[in-house]
Amino acid sequence: MVCLGNICRSPLAHGILEAKIAEQGLDWTVDSAGTSGWHAGGPPDGRSVQVAKKYGLDISGQHSRQFRHYDFEAFDAIYVMDRSNLANVLALAINDEERAKVYMILNEIYPGQNREVPDPYYDDNGFEEVYAMLDKACDSVISRWKVG
Ligand code: 4NP
Repeated sequence: MVCLGNICRSPLAHGILEAKIAEQGLDWTVDSAGTSGWHAGGPPDGRSVQVAKKYGLDISGQHSRQFRHYDFEAFDAIYVMDRSNLANVLALAINDEERAKVYMILNEIYPGQNREVPDPYYDDNGFEEVYAMLDKACDSVISRWKVG
């Protein structure tokens, strides 16, 4: 799960998908990162922590890190939140196999539309909406990759 700062959107996507994976008894690994390293080592934004808590998730133990080329090897799928994240991640890919692993997360629920998860960093009211979008999208992520 990748966004710009890895403190608002992708930590929510990470926590939401992790909880669904646990509910389903799957053995997947989920992680999140930012295309920037601006907040590396820091915790998620308090507003993301609060909205997650409201829905029963504790994301307070996460730490921001920067997306790195090794993530293309370590993960089967890389979900980005917006077109800017998409461009930044694709710029680090070195072949078609890596490029093919990168998905706009809302395309899981709005196929082919390249809709963006709005950056809530400057909008205190945006976190609920972001949570709801990511919750739906993560249900579709589970359905897409679950075998059997
Ligand atoms: P995120 O939000 O990409 O969803 O984590 C942002 C976090 C920090 C900044 C921008 C967006 N920033 O400018 O520091």
